[in-house]
Amino acid sequence: MAAPSGVQKGLEEIVALESRICFIDGHQGRLLYEGYDIRDLAANSTFEEVAYLLWYGKLPTQAQLDDLHQDLVALRALPPALMRLIDAMPLSSSPMDVLRTAVSALALFEPGETKPGPTSIGGARRLTAALPSIIGHFHRRRAKLPPLRSRPELSHAAYVVYALLDRDPSALDARAVDVALILHADHELNASTFSARVTASTLSDLYSAITSAIGTLKGPLHGGANERAIELLDEMRTVDRVAPVVRAKLAAHERIMGFGHRVYKVEDPRATILREWSRHVGEEHGDLHYYDMLRELVEVVHREKGLYPNLDLYSGSVYSLIGIPKDLFTPIFAVSRIAGWTAHVLEEYSDLRIIRPTAAYVGRTDLKYVPIGERS
Ligand code: CMC
Repeated sequence: MAAPSGVQKGLEEIVALESRICFIDGHQGRLLYEGYDIRDLAANSTFEEVAYLLWYGKLPTQAQLDDLHQDLVALRALPPALMRLIDAMPLSSSPMDVLRTAVSALALFEPGETKPGPTSIGGARRLTAALPSIIGHFHRRRAKLPPLRSRPELSHAAYVVYALLDRDPSALDARAVDVALILHADHELNASTFSARVTASTLSDLYSAITSAIGTLKGPLHGGANERAIELLDEMRTVDRVAPVVRAKLAAHERIMGFGHRVYKVEDPRATILREWSRHVGEEHGDLHYYDMLRELVEVVHREKGLYPNLDLYSGSVYSLIGIPKDLFTPIFAVSRIAGWTAHVLEEYSDLRIIRPTAAYVGRTDLKYVPIGERS
């Protein structure tokens, strides 16, 4: 709702630009990437196909997909200087801080890739391939796992799991991660994508735009919600504790992470799909305790507050069952959203006008300047 000054706080419902990449119908619970329904993409395609779709505006042929796979595999290796830099970071660092710093530093070792313009598609591929390796390289050191290899035979989703856990996922777990990556790949003008586009709109380079986006994704109201949602389940522990914990949090005016959305007024269609994968992965691992708690949580929060779940509610349960540590959930969000961020940056370069809104001034005016020696 607009404030008396006419300001739409949080830019709610402000149409800031035209985009062909992603369409959301928040009332019907519909999400399209480049015209394709997210349900069809999640059922039939792979993350690599979706990344190609977002970058080029069309689904790839088999030859184009094979070429993309080979390119991503070739780009998995990190520059030795970047690996040394990551090795110098404190082991206690937040993986999102490591990712943000490493992406910014990667630009220093690959200056050719950072130039703005249509050629940045090379940078988009490079960043998409490098993100799992950056997180994997950092996590493997703290978990005392062997160094990463490129593993050309692995799909992007399977490589993500291998990079983090040093083991290959089962076919079902790999598909669950692939679907999660597809579902997180883009979401119109969410905060991190907007921040990437603002940076790109100044004619800054791709790596700077992605560094801005990673810093924005980190916040608990955005990508950080997936880690908080699983912390909540771990705090509740059993189905019978769900309702009392929710009531206590709402009474204390705390937010329930993984619920609510700026655009969706009904259930987030990505949450509907990921809920089923939470069940499949739970059944595969013979452990439905998260799934059972999630069912109860959704019912209670809807009854108490009328809110629907978003996709951040379910991703953590999938990753946890596969064995991925909690503080890597938001970095995995970035591993997927890099496809959308880079597509949006390329779109911004193709139709550029600096993004520079205005503010309603509510400060003082006409103050008399007081020399420093006369101030009290
Ligand atoms: N728990 C409790 N109350 C909530 C929640 C929640 N998760 N979400 C919204 N509300 C309440 C809020 O307190 C406010 O109530 P009142 O009008 O009585 O003050 C009302 O609903 C409207 O909230 P808002 O903050 O004005 O809504 P917004 O559109 O600005 O915020 C949101 C959207 C996603 C930031 C918010 O729903 C939220 O904080 N959710 C929890 C964090 C979360 O799950 N984030 C992930 C979002 S989806 C994927 C992603 O972007 O990463």
